[in-house]
Amino acid sequence: MEKTLSIIKPDAVKKGVIGKIIDRFESNNLRVAGMKKIQLSRADAEAFYAVHKERGFFGELVDFMISGPVVVIALEGEDAMTKNRELMGATNPKEAKPGTIRADFADSIDANAVHGSDSVENAAVEIAFFFSQRELS
Ligand code: CMP
Repeated sequence: MEKTLSIIKPDAVKKGVIGKIIDRFESNNLRVAGMKKIQLSRADAEAFYAVHKERGFFGELVDFMISGPVVVIALEGEDAMTKNRELMGATNPKEAKPGTIRADFADSIDANAVHGSDSVENAAVEIAFFFSQRELS
């Protein structure tokens, strides 16, 4: 069984759609292996998104990710990484297919409701960033 990381971002938490987003996962055979609601520090967000640190949007991305609590979720299932990316839709909600999480709940490329790992290798790194072994079952 494959694992991937999802983050329900501050915009979606503020909108009160945590449950609706988790329903998309569970209705599509992605099981919650670990989950917690946390407030990221600036250092947390900078470390998590370090791969983007040279990009022009890095500062705004970090500011946005610490603007309120997030829900981090380790998802497990067949082809979990790819399936989660299909359920999320395109990074820019204006380009996301109807019925995807971002088309339905996101407002902009920054406030885009969810993050999802972009490879199985990165998923393992991202899950280890947030979860200890005893928090995964
Ligand atoms: P996420 O999947 O969390 O990964 C990095 C985030 O940077 C991305 O979602 C977007 O919310 C944000 N972002 C802002 N501008 C851009 C951009 N031009 N290209 C990609 N990601 C962007």
